[in-house]
Amino acid sequence: MKALITGINGFVGSHLAEHLLEQQIEVAGTIRNHSTLQHIRHLLPDIHLYECELRDPQAVEQMMIEVRPDLIYHLAAQSFVPVSWDSPAETMINNILGQIHLLEAVRKLGLSSKVLIACSSEEYGQVEEDEVPVKETNPLRPISPYAVSKIAQNYLGYQYYKTFGQHIIRTRTFNHTGPRRGEQFVTSNFAKQIVEIEMGLKPPVLYVGNLDAQRDFTDVRDVVRAYRMALQYCEAGEIYNIASGQCHEIREVLQTLLGYSTATITIEEDKSRLRPSDVKVLVGDYSKFHKQTGWKPEISFEQSLEDLLRYWRTE
Ligand code: GDD
Repeated sequence: MKALITGINGFVGSHLAEHLLEQQIEVAGTIRNHSTLQHIRHLLPDIHLYECELRDPQAVEQMMIEVRPDLIYHLAAQSFVPVSWDSPAETMINNILGQIHLLEAVRKLGLSSKVLIACSSEEYGQVEEDEVPVKETNPLRPISPYAVSKIAQNYLGYQYYKTFGQHIIRTRTFNHTGPRRGEQFVTSNFAKQIVEIEMGLKPPVLYVGNLDAQRDFTDVRDVVRAYRMALQYCEAGEIYNIASGQCHEIREVLQTLLGYSTATITIEEDKSRLRPSDVKVLVGDYSKFHKQTGWKPEISFEQSLEDLLRYWRTE
C-alpha cells in the first residue's frame, strides 16, 4: 500500500507520515521548491520526497506517474485564515488549482486511488447559537476567503466523485493543535510567546487578538489517526466532521497555557491581530465519523497544550 501526502513537510503532513509509517504503509510526499524540511528531517530515510509545485499541471502529472499512489491525503494548502484577506487571489489559486491538478492527474492516468480532501470547519462560518454542535448538514455561511476556497475544494471533490466515480472522501476538520503547530496559529503563537518570555528573549508582554472566539480543538495525533481511518472505512462521496465536540474560548487557551508557566506575564491586545470578520463559535458533532470508523479523540485539550509548550521549550 503506497500513500501520497501533499504538503508532507507541514504540521499535519509530518504527523501523518509518522503515523502511516508505523502502520507499515509506504509513504511518498510532495514539497514545494525551497520548502523547509524541519519537521520531516528524521523521516527522510523512510519516505520518498517529490519537489512538486501543485499549481503546475505537468509537474503534478509527472509526479503521479512516478508515485501511482493507492491512497492520497491532500493536505497542501494556504491554511492561515488572515493571509486569505491579504492575498485572497493567491489563496484561491493555491487551494483550488492544486486540487484540480491532482484530481485531473488521477483521472488522466486512470488511477483508482482513494483520495482524502482536507476541508475545514471554517466552511460553516457564521454558525447560529442553536446550531451547535454543528452537523455536516449545517448551512455553509463562509466569512473569509479561506473558507470560500475550502468550500470550492469540498465541492470539487464531490463533483469528481459524481462525474468520474473517483473514490473521494472529504473531512471537515475543526481546529487542531499539538507539537509542530505553525507559530502564526493561536495556540502555538501564545505558547511561543510564553517560552520567549520565560527565556528572557522578549519583554513579559503577551500579545493577543480576539479572546472571545470559541473553537473546538483536537490534537493533531488524533487527527492523523482519523485521516488514516477515513480512507480505510469511510464511504466515497461523503463528508465527515472531525472534531472533539468540546468548546473552548480562546481566553481559556491562554489561561491553560499560562497555568503551565511560572513567569509573570501581562496580556495586551494587539489590534493588528483582529480580523475583518471572525467566526464566533465552532463546535463539531463528529457522530457520523464515529459511527463509520469507531474513532474518537484520545488526547485531551490540556495534554495537547502542554505538549505544545514543551515543543517550544525544546525547539
Ligand atoms: N492566530 C491568532 N493569533 N489567532 C488569535 C489570536 C492571535 O494572537 N488571538 C486570538 N485569536 C483567535 C482568532 O481570531 C480565531 O478566532 C481563533 O483565535 C483561532 O485562530 P487560528 O489559530 O488562527 O485558527 P482559525 O480558527 O482561524 O483556523 C484554523 O482552524 C481551521 C478549522 O476551523 C486553521 O487551522 C485553519 O487552517 C483550519 O481550517
